[in-house]
Amino acid sequence: MDWPEWRQMQTADIAGVVTVAATAFRDHFEDRVCFEERLALYPQGCFVLAVSGEVEPAVQGYLIAYPWPFEAIPPLNSLIGSVPPCEEGLYLHDLALAPAVHGQGHAAPIVERLADHARRCGAPRITLVSVNGSVPFWQRMGFSVVPTSPVIGRKLATYGPGAAYMARVL
Ligand SMILES: CC(C)(COP(=O)(O)OP(=O)(O)OC[C@H]1O[C@@H](n2cnc3c(N)ncnc32)[C@H](O)[C@@H]1OP(=O)(O)O)[C@@H](O)C(=O)NCCC(=O)NCCS
Repeated sequence: MDWPEWRQMQTADIAGVVTVAATAFRDHFEDRVCFEERLALYPQGCFVLAVSGEVEPAVQGYLIAYPWPFEAIPPLNSLIGSVPPCEEGLYLHDLALAPAVHGQGHAAPIVERLADHARRCGAPRITLVSVNGSVPFWQRMGFSVVPTSPVIGRKLATYGPGAAYMARVL
């Protein structure tokens, strides 16, 4: 396979995104319409890792982020309707790579690209919910675990054991 590169997500990429998500987040199914909605609401925060010019399966990874208030967690597998201004901060909803491209250094460049975008649009931080035992990975990406209130703790519990709310201050 040729070396894949990150680029902005397009509507035609959604099928590939859904395929990568199904493998990466087996315990956190989200319907295709959720991905379509995020892309429609905030395309500037949606990226795919893909081999240019290649037909299916071109998508080898994706990142989805959008503005969302601090200490709030969007419900899983749900439509959100609208997003607040970027100044509220960005929420990194998903970062996932196909197993074939794990361990090749593709994660850091897109996290840094998102951080650059977040700074430019005036976001003070990026937040996320870490699952799949990924806390050490996110710490390497500059995120720290945020101590949570009982309300946030109850929402986190819906993500399964070991889920953690994390933030990277910009
Ligand atoms: C999380 C994920 C995107 C990381 O991708 P990756 O290809 O392994 O990451 P990279 O090779 O770019 O690694 C980046 C750095 O993080 C480190 N790292 C990766 N996974 C790690 C882990 N679980 N614990 C500690 N460090 C980790 C790497 O060693 C590397 O460090 P280095 O820069 O010093 O060499 C990938 O494993 C994935 O798609 N997982 C399934 C979906 C998922 O769990 N997403 C995150 C949940 S919120």
